[in-house]
Amino acid sequence: LFLIGATAIFSYLLGSIPFGIVMAKLFGLGDLRSIGSGNIGATNVLRTGNKLAAFLTLIGDSGKGAAAVLIARALVGEDGAGIAALFAMLGHLYPVFLKFKGGKGVATFLGTLLALSFPVGLAACATWLLVAVVSRYSSLSALVAALLAPIYTVWLYHLHGAILVAILSALIFYKHRDNIARLREGSETKIGKK
Ligand code: G3P
Repeated sequence: LFLIGATAIFSYLLGSIPFGIVMAKLFGLGDLRSIGSGNIGATNVLRTGNKLAAFLTLIGDSGKGAAAVLIARALVGEDGAGIAALFAMLGHLYPVFLKFKGGKGVATFLGTLLALSFPVGLAACATWLLVAVVSRYSSLSALVAALLAPIYTVWLYHLHGAILVAILSALIFYKHRDNIARLREGSETKIGKK
């Protein structure tokens, strides 16, 4: 029980690291909160025009999710991996370092999925990419990937894991409320556009 608690706290703190904010600082891109959607994710970093910073944000935010799961699995086993996935996501969405105002969790979600089950993660990434290429909407790509991820999990991993993934997907939908409203209005910004 102590190990599970420690895993949760460690994963939450790791997930709390806002790579978008870190990269924006490192590259001198200004305050992400006052650019584009105001979000701290890779999509919004890309709106500054700096592709490298956006790419490093994607790698950092997905990497921390994957790292949390892999470390927990090595130390505590499969239950620990699930706890780590949940708490790394909560860290990104509600980071202690940003007064609990975090991101939308897409990169972190994809990273945790890749570590939980590589085939499920690949299927979710492929879904994101396919919808992104066709629609050019980052948010829509994330929503479709999140919607299908629990199904991929039942299919490619196991039923037990699908409950966890469904919770993560629900968090993504909740954090995309404004994006969903903009998509319905037709006012959502396309990838790479300001
Ligand atoms: O990665 C988050 C993405 O789905 C939406 O980001 O900045 O367009 O709200 P943004």
